[in-house]
Amino acid sequence: MEAYKNTGIKDIITEFPQVANILEEYGIGCGPCTVGICLLKDILDIHKMAPEKEQELMSRIQAAIYPERNIKTNHPVETAQTVPTPHVFSPPMQLLVDEHVVIKRWLALIPSVIESIDLATDEGVKIIVDGIDLIRSYADRLHHAKEEDILFTYFDDSEKIFQVIYEDHRIARNHVKKMLAAVETKDTAALNQHLTDYGLLLAEHIKKEDEILFPWLDKELAEEQIVELTQKFDKEDGEIGVEPQKYLSYLDNLEDQFKE
Ligand SMILES: [Fe+2]
Ligand SMILES: [Fe+2]
Repeated sequence: MEAYKNTGIKDIITEFPQVANILEEYGIGCGPCTVGICLLKDILDIHKMAPEKEQELMSRIQAAIYPERNIKTNHPVETAQTVPTPHVFSPPMQLLVDEHVVIKRWLALIPSVIESIDLATDEGVKIIVDGIDLIRSYADRLHHAKEEDILFTYFDDSEKIFQVIYEDHRIARNHVKKMLAAVETKDTAALNQHLTDYGLLLAEHIKKEDEILFPWLDKELAEEQIVELTQKFDKEDGEIGVEPQKYLSYLDNLEDQFKE
């Protein structure tokens, strides 16, 4: 079993598909995860569980991998549907997760915005331009910059997961360029497409960070680094000149507008 701890969870699931269902019961969604870089031992590190739950989960995985060994799994059926304990983030990581909440409010509005796109009126153009500004200023300059220029510098960012994250940021920036060009040429179809693709990309991206990357990074950070990160984030937010309240008001107004 020790050897399997250093095996990619995706490889284990390919060989023993029932492992995905077992993990799902413990609130661990490795089956549908598209990152696919975690080893089995990383799953245990990232999804902190009570020792007895971890033992129970491992015995069930072991039983799935080695059915011939008749391993006693000891899991009472009534506790199998375990509610995962929410991860408690350090303050700087919680700040990034809170910024995700704001970005997700915008992502949730994208379908309604698309339905009502009207590039023929100043008001219609303004909704889109302000939304693109939220993406560029809040999501990219304020948020992604804290990730790329500060947080990730504490780690070896040649690891595959960082490359996946950088690539998402790059693709997101490319969608923004295309959105701006579409507004310029009043190309509603292209705007619609890039808004949709951006929304899908960012939703998946935020999930990767909230559920995989950030819990993992948090675990690796020393106390002094957490204090230092908090100070650096504060300094960056002060210097960058992005006013979050402006975007919160934009979201409040738009949510009101599209409320049924
Ligand atoms: Fe990110
Ligand atoms: Fe993020």
